[in-house]
Amino acid sequence: NRKIIMDCDPGHDDAIALIIAGAKSSSLDILAVTTVAGNQSVDKNTRNALNVLDIMNRGDIPVSTGADRPLIKEAAFAESIHGESGLDGPQLPKVPNLKDTNEHGVNVIIDQVLQSNEPITLVATGPLTNIAMALIQEPKIADNIQEIVIMGGGTFGNWTPTAEFNIWVDAESAKKVFKSGIPVVVFGLDVTHQLFADDAVINRFNKIDNKVSDFVVELLKFFKSTYKEQFDMDGGPIHDACTILYLLNPEIFTLQNTYIQIETDSALTYGTMSVDLNNTYQKEPNAKFATEVDVDLAWDIMEQALRSYQ
Ligand code: BDR
Ligand code: CA
Repeated sequence: NRKIIMDCDPGHDDAIALIIAGAKSSSLDILAVTTVAGNQSVDKNTRNALNVLDIMNRGDIPVSTGADRPLIKEAAFAESIHGESGLDGPQLPKVPNLKDTNEHGVNVIIDQVLQSNEPITLVATGPLTNIAMALIQEPKIADNIQEIVIMGGGTFGNWTPTAEFNIWVDAESAKKVFKSGIPVVVFGLDVTHQLFADDAVINRFNKIDNKVSDFVVELLKFFKSTYKEQFDMDGGPIHDACTILYLLNPEIFTLQNTYIQIETDSALTYGTMSVDLNNTYQKEPNAKFATEVDVDLAWDIMEQALRSYQ
């Protein structure tokens, strides 16, 4: 089994990523979940992660709270998309049944990577603050990271016309990660917007009828409502889940090797990802960038994961 650490800010789509990764049918071994400020404050994101793992019956996966703000910038949250709790929609306990480890998420990433006798894959579905901090604090971890699989960026934006939320929240950290030399796989808006959970998808999952699938249906309904309000779209793209779908079934994605840079200096385009798909710079690629997904297969894999909770 491939060993992963999930660094996240749950978040509706982060929650779905966790659920697929931790399903009975999954071939992934989740060593740790670390949380970061992003969709909501880091404490709310931790609470959400604990509640989601509880619903999954995966209290065996440790959760640790990481950075409460970006490296340089002030924190900024995505309340308009994920609500005041960061996971609005389903009724969840204010005080989760599970507890976090009380260790700092950045230290957990460092310790897990250094301790492991096989390379670790980092899955990042929030701002990249924890991963950048871990690389700054202990550069040696780079040698034992197989890949960093990221949801973020794209050739267009959703938070500004050109910047995607995760990268925009902490572009300095993102820049650090893309300059690290560690293999990076990127699921940006170009591909995540191909996987819309519209009514047809929601109805399909509604038929599965177990505790976890019912929870996912509630998440998707709320997500759909805010995407309608904010972007006039008829379903929420399940962005973060692409990272896990890729780790489970890489062949359903089309990836292009390319050179990616992150803008940090411009007020207008702060957090913009420059993706050199046409090889304008003739630079050695530093990332794989997903351009396409087989939509039908993706929903099939997701359904299979949800069914395995029965
Ligand atoms: C990303 O931003 C967050 O709101 C989502 O959880 C996802 O990680 C999409 O831009
Ligand atoms: Ca996220």
